[in-house]
Amino acid sequence: MTAMAFEAAAAGWNGPVLPEWRNTARPEQLPPDGQWLTWAFIAGRGAGKTRSAAEWVNEKAQSSPGVRIALVGRTPADVRDVMIEGESGILAVARENTPVYQSTKRRLTWPNGSTAYAYSAEVPSQLRGPQHHYAWCDEPAAWTDARKGDVLDTAWNNLMLGLRLGSDPRCVATTTPKPVALIRTILGRKSTAVTRGSTYDNLANLAPSFRDEVLTAYEGTRIGRQELLGELLEDVEGALWTVAMIDGDRVGAPPDMSRIVVAVDPSGGDGPHSDEQGIVVAGLGVDGDVYILADRSCKLSPHGWASRAVAAFCEFAADRIIAEVNYGGAMVASTIGQVDSAVPVKVITASRGKVQRAEPVSAAYEKHRIHHVGALAKLEDQMTTWTPQDGTSPDRLDALVWAVTELTGNFGADAWLAWAKRKAGEAQGTQAQETPGTPGITAAGEPQPAQSGEPAGRPAVTDGPEPGTWLVRSSDGQRDYTVTADGRCDCQAGTHGKRCRHVAEAHATADPALLLKLARDAAFRAIR
Ligand SMILES: Nc1ncnc2c1ncn2[C@@H]1O[C@H](COP(=O)(O)OP(=O)(O)O)[C@@H](O)[C@H]1O
Ligand SMILES: [Mg+2]
Repeated sequence: MTAMAFEAAAAGWNGPVLPEWRNTARPEQLPPDGQWLTWAFIAGRGAGKTRSAAEWVNEKAQSSPGVRIALVGRTPADVRDVMIEGESGILAVARENTPVYQSTKRRLTWPNGSTAYAYSAEVPSQLRGPQHHYAWCDEPAAWTDARKGDVLDTAWNNLMLGLRLGSDPRCVATTTPKPVALIRTILGRKSTAVTRGSTYDNLANLAPSFRDEVLTAYEGTRIGRQELLGELLEDVEGALWTVAMIDGDRVGAPPDMSRIVVAVDPSGGDGPHSDEQGIVVAGLGVDGDVYILADRSCKLSPHGWASRAVAAFCEFAADRIIAEVNYGGAMVASTIGQVDSAVPVKVITASRGKVQRAEPVSAAYEKHRIHHVGALAKLEDQMTTWTPQDGTSPDRLDALVWAVTELTGNFGADAWLAWAKRKAGEAQGTQAQETPGTPGITAAGEPQPAQSGEPAGRPAVTDGPEPGTWLVRSSDGQRDYTVTADGRCDCQAGTHGKRCRHVAEAHATADPALLLKLARDAAFRAIR
């Protein structure tokens, strides 16, 4: 026995020796000893998971001619770009006897006749039928159906039903863990052998940019224990958000924004971060969803945090900074005014308590209407650990709730906006787009066209006594009603909270862009 083979046997290595990898792999990167069906390598980002499994697949393919191997990733692109062609994928780690990759056939073929097939977990039916000797699942915690667990017709379930060729079928699952049913199931099975690793173990092998990005985002946070250390974090009972709720709708880059706010909560709170100031930037996408763009919270002097808020305002070309009056709103306005008096600060008044404000925000996450752009680990820590019973008021979370509340007013006012847009289009002389069946706009509420036969010489709508108000003549010409930019009118219908034709007519005379902006503002205000 050579020294290396001896070493390998001592470490429980049960395949033929691939010396290069044996020399560089850390123990958790090598398949554990024993009769496992699934080897789960649970580790942080960049810990060397993909590399470990790619090496294992190559070793299996080369040592047993003619075997069939399943490669399952989150999406077709993940399988191709990470598992097969990636920097630590199968082609990169095949030193000799390199397989041929036929992308159109989603197939890798080794010179000895072994084959590997690419499957996307997005299409579980692909895995219904084909049989394999071995399988590699990369990042199953992030698979579309991971929340369902190991139930009928999920990618995992179909794969496992077909994993029955040969006398020793085996599967490796490499993943950063998440508290989803599939991961709990895999880890709970007696047939699973687990190895664990962390980003820190593999720091020396990571590209500096990746290392800095990942460490900056997650170091020192609870979620970092999952993302860097590979710990399975359980959801905090009673918290209004779970990690999965946020993760599922996360995006890498936001779409265009129609409106952006910077929410500031300088309240101090009374939790462990009591001298922090929450500064959260959020926007309303042109798709109507809300995007959490940045968390600029800090622990600075008033001048310091006000400067940060103003910098965020400028960086994101925000519409305004918002702060709640009871939570230092007046102070925010004056402090920001001292840094830059031109920045519009909107001081809002809460009509509901903190929990009542937070709940609809949490519900909007459940409806997949809110997306985090990239990782906002400290904010997400507060979201996923705060419970209404805590009695504390974490600043980042508070700022988030203000920002989302400010923007999600629109969710209930979609109909309002549709109407305003159509009206703006009409005012521009463009073809009005009817949206039949728009909820919230009844035939009765539909703005009526201006009455004909108006006395000549005087337009039906004139500017009102104050900026942003209009005077609209009654249809009998006997009096003027005053309409405001936010859609109130002092006619009988208007004072009963109905939308009357006077509002429609007044707004139709406004500049279309201004009208749209006014309508939006009004819609937001109407909801709150
Ligand atoms: N034991 C090791 N020795 C040298 N380089 C390694 C080792 N393990 C992983 N790497 C390299 O580290 C980088 C990150 O590994 P990768 O497997 O892609 O991480 P993960 O899948 O966990 O995010 C890759 O370039 C990979 O080849
Ligand atoms: Mg990987």
